[in-house]
Amino acid sequence: MLVQQQQTELKEKIELLKQKKDVVILAHNYQIPDVQDVADYTGDSLGLSRLAATVSQQTILFCGVHFMAETAAIISPQKRVLIPDPDAGCSLSESITVRELLDWKARHPRAVAVGYVNTTAEIKAELDYCCTSSNAVKVVQAIPEDKEILFLPDMFLGSYVARVTGRKNMRIWAGECHVHAGITPEDVTRKLDSLRDVEFVIHPECSCTTPIMYDAEVGRFGNRDISILSTEAMVKHVSKSASKNFVVATETGILYKMRNQNPDKRFVPASENAECQYMKMITLEKVYDSLVNERSLVEIPKDTADKARLAIERMLRIG
Ligand code: 13P
Ligand code: SF4
Repeated sequence: MLVQQQQTELKEKIELLKQKKDVVILAHNYQIPDVQDVADYTGDSLGLSRLAATVSQQTILFCGVHFMAETAAIISPQKRVLIPDPDAGCSLSESITVRELLDWKARHPRAVAVGYVNTTAEIKAELDYCCTSSNAVKVVQAIPEDKEILFLPDMFLGSYVARVTGRKNMRIWAGECHVHAGITPEDVTRKLDSLRDVEFVIHPECSCTTPIMYDAEVGRFGNRDISILSTEAMVKHVSKSASKNFVVATETGILYKMRNQNPDKRFVPASENAECQYMKMITLEKVYDSLVNERSLVEIPKDTADKARLAIERMLRIG
């Protein structure tokens, strides 16, 4: 009870500080409920970064992992982007180094490099195109058929895109997110079998994506609807759908928003263990500290940010 009261007081202080210092708080869909509660906006990584450019506030407090705050800073170079814990990393963005990318590009000099938004600013600076889980298919389709593609760093998203586009000349980096890779087809089958009249929503980073796409084609899941979607697209989809029960295959933080927006529907995680410890590093206490002390500033060397912005802008022109 005391803890709950302290959290409520902290939220009130955060609210006052936000207004006094004219700061906007953006929080990713995987953030803990308390942090989502104090956010002005919640959403997916790219949606939030785009929002950062349009809000009137000159200071953005980005509650998410580091590459997301960097993307916001790249898109809005004239604004100040703060992150409550600069050590909040991402196993997927760490799965390729700049050296590895440069070596890969050197071995395939005519190939076009397409990289997921879950990459560091240094990696983005070496890409031709950036992409997200919601537009990766469109980005790949926009590249001439005869051009070889280097797709990085997520192998599950890569194989999903290759399958949907039918593209044969795509080389895929063998990176993965430990959270999504840990959601197995067995987890999914167990959950789906335990519920009646259930719809299944799945993030393309999941290791179960590839076999489930095949299963969906041959109808192994009977009449259950299966949708492979990015995080924000999932949130929108479950609100619009007429279904009442959903199995959700992504990080469990997203369930808070789904349940808040749809109190009459039931949401079950494909795996209760699908928790991103990096996302959970952002706490209410750190948000408060960040506002009081105006830290930690996300700083990217100008030439790196300028090059990375080109890959992001090419993606934004496609959709
Ligand atoms: P979104 O860009 O769909 O929010 O996903 C980011 C992420 O980290 C997924 O694990
Ligand atoms: Fe990175 Fe995976 Fe966490 Fe998303 S869930 S931030 S991809 S480690």
